[in-house]
Amino acid sequence: MSPSSRVTTVVAMTDLRMERDPEHPAGADLTDAIEAPSTHHTVPSKESESYTHGHHESVLRAHRARTAQNSAGFLLPHLRDDMTLLDVGCGPGTVTVDLARLLPGGEVVGVDASETVLEAARNHADAVGFSHVRFEQANAYELPFEDDTFDVVYAHQLLQHLSDPVAALREMKRVARPGGLVAVRDADYAAMAWYPESPGLTEWNTLYHEVTHAYGFEPDAGRRLFSWVQQAGFDVAQMVPSASSWCYATPTDRQWWGQVWAERCVASNFAGQAKESGLADDVALEQLAQDWLAWAQAPDGWFAILHGEVLARA
Ligand SMILES: C[S@@+](CC[C@H](N)C(=O)[O-])C[C@H]1O[C@@H](n2cnc3c(N)ncnc32)[C@H](O)[C@@H]1O
Repeated sequence: MSPSSRVTTVVAMTDLRMERDPEHPAGADLTDAIEAPSTHHTVPSKESESYTHGHHESVLRAHRARTAQNSAGFLLPHLRDDMTLLDVGCGPGTVTVDLARLLPGGEVVGVDASETVLEAARNHADAVGFSHVRFEQANAYELPFEDDTFDVVYAHQLLQHLSDPVAALREMKRVARPGGLVAVRDADYAAMAWYPESPGLTEWNTLYHEVTHAYGFEPDAGRRLFSWVQQAGFDVAQMVPSASSWCYATPTDRQWWGQVWAERCVASNFAGQAKESGLADDVALEQLAQDWLAWAQAPDGWFAILHGEVLARA
């Protein structure tokens, strides 16, 4: 099958881009047409946005592998054991609970828009036996906390899934105490690198960009974090920008990562959005899943994900 027949993209995307209103976050018009309408016009509500990956088992499997060490390394040297910490967009909470382990005298709150994933987070915290961590449903744009509440406000892989990441960063700044820390980390899809060369993975990466852009999100968030944090009103002189990576190259890691994406291509919200926006059909998505599995079989297969990170003072 030729690349252009696998993914039905170009014409549809041109039309979608032309429909955007430059006064609104990219894609908000399209998003609202697909999801329930937003109740206000200044910032998108959680009802108006649809998290690209959703919470299919293949997505949660990837999120559950995350730890404080592999997802918040840039923050760890700044933690004291009595600090209060908010994790915004905490997902199934493995990073949240791991951070709570490092703050035994403090208090940790994880919030997420999805009640379903919060159930998984609560179960995880119960299994570990921590009582100083709790999980609440909340919208990153309207956090249900007083001003100046937390010593640390952290968000991992959240801003890439929001149509107005700067508004969310302003909200994170509001609930951080003056002088407290706001710490954000996001992947950058255009900076992902892999070997052996695979036209299928190249198509997957292109499709991922097209789908997320169609829904108003920025998949190349990593490189933009430093700019977004500045736009949100933080003092640039007190920011520490950095970058770090994940790498999947051992046979076990390759199998795991390839399988996760093979399933996401056909069964996650990403697959649904790709079809809903007319960017790919079932045949194209099944082919991409096969391409992921083929990549995972290569004995010299290697995949790296670059992340942007910023530590800022509120
Ligand atoms: C990629 S996951 C990251 C989960 C977790 N931080 C981690 O790294 O394992 C993004 C999470 O953000 C949540 N999310 C998306 N939009 C949100 C919003 N407006 N407010 C709160 N959470 C949101 C999703 O439900 C999802 O669980």
